[in-house]
Amino acid sequence: AIGGTVAEPKVVSAAEPLLLNAVRGEDVERPPVWLMRQAGRYMKSYQIICEKYPSFRQRSENVDLVVEISLQPWKVFRPDGVILFSDILTPLSGMNIPFDIVKGKGPVIFNPLCTATDVDQVREFVPADSVPYVGEALTILRKEVDNEAAVLGFVGAPFTLASYVVEGGSSKHFTKIKRLAFSQPKVLHALLQKFATSMAKYVQYQADNGAQAVQIFDSWATELSPVDFEEFSLPYLKQIVDIVKQTHPNLPLILYASGSGGLLERLPLTGVDVVSLDWTVDMAEGRRRLGTDVAVQGNVDPGVLFGSKEFITSRINDTVRKAGKGKHILNLGHGIVVGTPEENVAHFFEVAKGIRY
Ligand code: CP3
Repeated sequence: AIGGTVAEPKVVSAAEPLLLNAVRGEDVERPPVWLMRQAGRYMKSYQIICEKYPSFRQRSENVDLVVEISLQPWKVFRPDGVILFSDILTPLSGMNIPFDIVKGKGPVIFNPLCTATDVDQVREFVPADSVPYVGEALTILRKEVDNEAAVLGFVGAPFTLASYVVEGGSSKHFTKIKRLAFSQPKVLHALLQKFATSMAKYVQYQADNGAQAVQIFDSWATELSPVDFEEFSLPYLKQIVDIVKQTHPNLPLILYASGSGGLLERLPLTGVDVVSLDWTVDMAEGRRRLGTDVAVQGNVDPGVLFGSKEFITSRINDTVRKAGKGKHILNLGHGIVVGTPEENVAHFFEVAKGIRY
């Protein structure tokens, strides 16, 4: 500037994040890329934080820690999506369902729900009162990341949340929730309804505070046969989408269900913008079965990250070729596994970001 009196304008990236362009079907030069569970135990920097703050709830319910952990993969790998560090169970305490996430054991619900009276005691979720740190963290993330990547929020789907709170934690055969579904369906429906309304509000809250796209995790919906999925999961997913689209018509919603091969054609019926595929579905076949309206995310096997660099490269290329140009977010088919070499994750991002259609 002449005479040094005029400040250089701060360079702000005016363009929208690549991930949003890709989801909308705009002309993009490569698929955006991020990884489910990209913040977490495979990173040394996360393990160091865990030593200092051993409780998962502490790490995930404190603004500074949430921001720091969410940004750990961003600083090293520069993904196109930065997902909030949190958990699908985080809203539960605000709904009067006490829980913890115990090292080596996973989620624990202290008083699993099983009767109509238990369900009556579940409170509607008011995000700003119960999880203000989520809104604050998203706002900070949005500022930190600017438009170089999309800030991603997420929620658990009603059936998946219900499976945790009825089973009391992770489950192998899902007998308790199926007993409820198949002997007292009204009780389960009442619970699913509370989760649907609450999670719709939570999506809106996240979007209002900086999330630019929100993923709905229905990890266990595929434990249901298709006819039961249509009764106990699909209508509630659709409700969430409908409620959110009324207030946030342009907010991309991503749906993930693991092992969804048998349900694929039904997933776009929820109204989501993106379906996230796991690796048990061939990407080209998945694309064909999903139709052209919906964008697709995925679907590299997380186990590939334990392979050689050449193998990782070839699987990325294969997946991108099969997905075809546009409307594709490159990702894994499920979360990164503990023990994944960080250098392989770095290689994954480097190759992915070097791709040109
Ligand atoms: O993607 C990200 O980096 C964001 C963070 C994230 C976590 N959980 C952090 C977490 C996300 C998106 C989730 C979602 C989640 N949580 C899902 C849906 C995704 C999926 O895997 O299907 C589910 C089912 C849960 C419930 C849950 N929370 C489980 C089954 C576990 C694993 C328990 C264990 O001990 O391995 C958790 C704990 C959890 N949530 C961890 C992380 C990084 C691991 C524990 C830790 O880091 O201390």
